[in-house]
Amino acid sequence: MSISLEGKTALVTGAGRGIGREVALQLAGAGVTVALVARSRDELDETAHRVRALGRAAFVAPADLGKLDDLQRAVRRANDELGAVDILVNNAAVVWPLGASATVEPGEWAAAIAINLVAVAALSFALLPAMVERGWGRIVNVSSAIAEHPGAMIGANAYATGKAALEAHTLNLAAELAGSGVTVNAFRPGSVDTAMPAWIRGQDPARIGAPLHQRFARSYAEGLLISPEQPARSLLMHLQRDTTGEIWDVSDTT
Ligand SMILES: NC(=O)c1ccc[n+]([C@@H]2O[C@H](COP(=O)([O-])OP(=O)(O)OC[C@H]3O[C@@H](n4cnc5c(N)ncnc54)[C@H](OP(=O)(O)O)[C@@H]3O)[C@@H](O)[C@H]2O)c1
Repeated sequence: MSISLEGKTALVTGAGRGIGREVALQLAGAGVTVALVARSRDELDETAHRVRALGRAAFVAPADLGKLDDLQRAVRRANDELGAVDILVNNAAVVWPLGASATVEPGEWAAAIAINLVAVAALSFALLPAMVERGWGRIVNVSSAIAEHPGAMIGANAYATGKAALEAHTLNLAAELAGSGVTVNAFRPGSVDTAMPAWIRGQDPARIGAPLHQRFARSYAEGLLISPEQPARSLLMHLQRDTTGEIWDVSDTT
């Protein structure tokens, strides 16, 4: 059965472009008021402009999710502006650092984990109490197929590690919250034509490793990338159900 999201509030990270922007727009289309988080103010403003054109309210909260102070400030501002948040879409992520693992600075590796994993947990922990109190909430963590095949992206150790851990975090939190009315799920969006794979294609194959570069160059050249609208639509369809503790995949709904 499909649950209406009309009148709910959502916080979407990485909402300035790519999959996050489309999720924000489709949530707005479903009657949801959205708080938009990322670092680039201009991109968030553009998303907000498009949300408002759909007749919904949008609130822009620029933040670097790699910095916990910034993250907490964004949560406070979203709560002040929108009240309690019903739906959290943890979508923001970075794919760097790339290249032979022994050449990667541990600080850079940790910074990626801070954005791709620690920030996800921190946002969920910050918004959870109000969701549990009201007996309704939705948390979706945007993952990747790499979590199932961590060896498939050689030279992307932090990304593979972060996404695999993200799914473990998701399933553990879902089990903890079973019966609370708050669902926690992960979502694998497929190979999507966004700035993230474009950035990988633009890197020097000699630095990031030829197999990784070829993998992304080939999927683009062969027209295998899907548009961001498709995973956003899939995520919305899943979100309108009561399931929890699942790893959703874009292919489930296509
Ligand atoms: N594209 C794909 O093929 C693909 C495949 C599998 C999984 N995914 C996953 O899908 C999600 C969205 O990816 P995408 O392809 O749409 O990427 P994208 O176009 O690069 O967008 C990433 C978003 O995250 C934000 N972000 C990055 N670092 C941030 C930080 N430190 N603080 C706050 N926001 C930050 C970016 O904004 P700022 O840079 O302005 O901060 C941007 O809005 C990610 O979780 C990614 O791992 C993508």
